Amino acid sequence: MSLENELLSVTCTAPVNIALIKYWGKRDEEKILPLNPSLSITLDVDDLRTKTTVVASKHFDRDRLWLNGKEHDISSKRMQTCITKLRQGAGDLRSDDGTLLIAKEEWKHYRFHIISENNFPTAAGLASSASGLACFVYSISQLLCFKETFPGELTTIARQGSGSACRSLLGGFVLWECGIAPDGTDSIAKQMDTGDKWKHLRIVILIVNDQQKKTSSTAGMQTSVQTSDLLKFRSKEVVPVQLSRMRDAIKEEDFTTLATITMQESNQFHACCLDTFPPIFYLTDVSKEIIQFVHDYNAKCGGTFVAYTFDAGPNAVLLTQDENLDKLVASLYQRFGFFPVTREGVTSSVCESPQSDQII
Ligand code: DP6
Repeated sequence: MSLENELLSVTCTAPVNIALIKYWGKRDEEKILPLNPSLSITLDVDDLRTKTTVVASKHFDRDRLWLNGKEHDISSKRMQTCITKLRQGAGDLRSDDGTLLIAKEEWKHYRFHIISENNFPTAAGLASSASGLACFVYSISQLLCFKETFPGELTTIARQGSGSACRSLLGGFVLWECGIAPDGTDSIAKQMDTGDKWKHLRIVILIVNDQQKKTSSTAGMQTSVQTSDLLKFRSKEVVPVQLSRMRDAIKEEDFTTLATITMQESNQFHACCLDTFPPIFYLTDVSKEIIQFVHDYNAKCGGTFVAYTFDAGPNAVLLTQDENLDKLVASLYQRFGFFPVTREGVTSSVCESPQSDQII
């Protein structure tokens, strides 16, 4: 059977991940090696995913990419690095009965058309680059029958597309290791915990503003590395301690500690942004009102029932437990109201707890 004139295609979806211990700052810009390890939860829910179809043909003249219906440049160094590394690890394509359909050496003659869509706001601090690049790398790897030469290799490729993308290749609680090897082969993402004992965890996302942020994470963290002393202190002195406490909290199903560290981490990340020169402001007044709301809510309830975390944007991710969800949503409604138009108003969507499934 000849596939010479056939179009080959694969479609995959990848989830968003939310960092509880933040990645902010690289020690190697080229290989995207982080200053510190980070930890996230994968949100395996239908309304926060990237879906990517990759079509391959020998008759395409070049690789092309469409993102949310608009053609985008695919010549960026990051995307080209991912494609090159995936091609290097390509395997033979065989039919179910073992017949060789495409030998691995043949893939170099194929070009890709990649069509990718997010079903949530892109580049608004909702980890769209994480799910986007994870999906990009995973779907091409599937098409090329990519074979890992060491465990976690695919995550090292996704990492070179966008750092946080390596964490979206796995489910549950995911640790992206800092690594020490200069070539970055040990800076991989690993599932730290399946999240099976955390089925009662609920995530509420408050869209404060769905416009693209002014300072990209990549540019923002570069300036922070150059100018923020707090970031240096944080990566050496604070993160190792918080990560170890978080690991214990996850194991012991200790929501209070998990929630407290999550809020502290978010606050320290935004403090580093403020310590950057010139400072970077991702939080808006509405974001700050949400922070105040959470602390008031917890104080009124006499414990830690809800936590917030913010990435490089104004939108809030709240963490709570199932038993508290209705009460929290009612209080949010009372305080903020939900607006269908999401400019500086607050809308919410309630997501299920993270799952441990692999993507696809
Ligand atoms: C604030 O992964 O988008 O969301 O590696 O330069 O592509 P690049 O940055 P990116 O940074 C995300 C930073 C963050 C925190 C986190 O997800 O850990």
